[in-house]
Formats: sequence, C-alpha cells, structure tokens
Amino acid sequence: MRKILVLNSKGGCGKTTIVTNLASYYAVWGVKTALVDYDPQLSSTEWLQARPDWADPIHGICAVSERVHYPAGTQRVVIDSPARVDRRDVANLARRADVVLIPILPSPIDIRAAAHFVGELLLSGSIAHHAQLGLVANRVREHTLIYGKLEQFLAGLKRDIPFVTHLRDTQNYIRAAEQGIGIFEMAPYAVAADLEQWRPLINWIEKKK
Ligand SMILES: Nc1ncnc2c1ncn2[C@@H]1O[C@H](COP(=O)(O)OP(=O)(O)OP(=O)(O)O)[C@@H](O)[C@H]1O
Ligand SMILES: [Mg+2]
Repeated sequence: MRKILVLNSKGGCGKTTIVTNLASYYAVWGVKTALVDYDPQLSSTEWLQARPDWADPIHGICAVSERVHYPAGTQRVVIDSPARVDRRDVANLARRADVVLIPILPSPIDIRAAAHFVGELLLSGSIAHHAQLGLVANRVREHTLIYGKLEQFLAGLKRDIPFVTHLRDTQNYIRAAEQGIGIFEMAPYAVAADLEQWRPLINWIEKKK
C-alpha cells in the first residue's frame, strides 16, 4: 500500500484538486484506492458523493468523523488535509505518508507562506526516512512574471525537494470537481494539455523512469 499525502497549510492552493484527480487516475486504471479526508470542510468527501454511477469506485474515508480503516487489498491511499494545520497535526499526517506533495500557487503571499511551511516541515523531522517530498506549482499561467518568481523559488529548493510538475489554470478542474470526476475521466481531447502535465507527477509518485 502506498500513501500519498497532499499538504500545505495555505488555503486554496489545490490540495483537494490534486487529491481528487489523483484518486480518479488510480480508479480509472483499476487500482484499488482509498481517499481519506482530514479536512472538516469535507470537500473531498463531497466530491466523492457527487461521483456518477458510471465512474470507477474509490473508497472514501472521512477521517474527521470515522476511524481510518482501509479495505483489504487497498493499493493506494490518497490523503487530503485541511488548511491551517498546526505543527503537531502536520507531523502526525506526514509521519505516515510514503509520498508528500505540496501544491503552491504562483502568488507572492503563497510563495512566502510555502517557504515557511517547507522549512518547518523539514525541521520537524516528521517525514518518514523512505518518504519522497515534492512540490507542485498549481494554477500556473506560463510566461507571467510571478510564475518566473515561483520557478526561481522552486529552483532554489531543488537540492532538498524536487519541483515535480506545474498544472495550468483551467476550467477543466472546476468542471471535473462539479461532477465528482477527475480530468482522467473527461474527454481526452479536452484535457490533453492537462494529461501531459500530470504525467511527470504520476511517474514521480510511482517512481517510473
Ligand atoms: N489548476 C487549477 N485551475 C483552475 N482552478 C483550480 C485549479 N486548481 C484548483 N482550482 C480551484 O481553486 C479552488 C481551490 O482549490 P482546492 O479546493 O483544490 O484547494 P485546497 O488547497 O484544497 O483548498 P482548502 O485549503 O480550502 O482545502 C477550487 O475552486 C478549485 O476548483
Ligand atoms: Mg481542500
């Protein structure tokens, strides 16, 4: 079982978007997947409730109100976390993950907040020895000045944490979220550019060359 945690104490950076799309990717490929929601806002849980009958199954666990128990044979666990997590909660979540993904928005406030968050996370010593930690730039509009700044910031961190991919700012994620699906379940011609951007992320999580 491989556990992927999406974490950043900054609100609205794309944690739920990445969690739900990743869960949908695994579901489409027939991987037995559990989605664990630690956020009292219940965004991932509600996404799962909106999932249409035709979509491949994902086992939802609302960790806010129920005990976390994985069905037998679970292969991947994708974990959504709340914004404003305190240090102890971050440590408790991070300790159990095999993969920790940190989404960052290209905005000066988010870049500064992410720098603090990453620093604290590394100093906390809570990341398991074998775990991989990676950054994902989200809602990117390429060739903007601020994306250039985010790239500089990410390049500066590169020795410690890889910058795995960037995801563009597109209505596709919003449309998918409304319907309880991921981009992997939308018409391929509509999401071709997005699928390309996910490829390095999936490969990195799955350690494929
Ligand atoms: N790449 C993207 N393109 C367009 N919209 C996006 C993208 N990523 C996220 N969004 C939208 O931005 C909003 C915030 O994203 P999301 O809910 O995933 O963030 P979050 O980190 O889970 O927020 P919170 O901290 O409140 O849990 C949502 O409305 C989502 O649909
Ligand atoms: Mg969320």
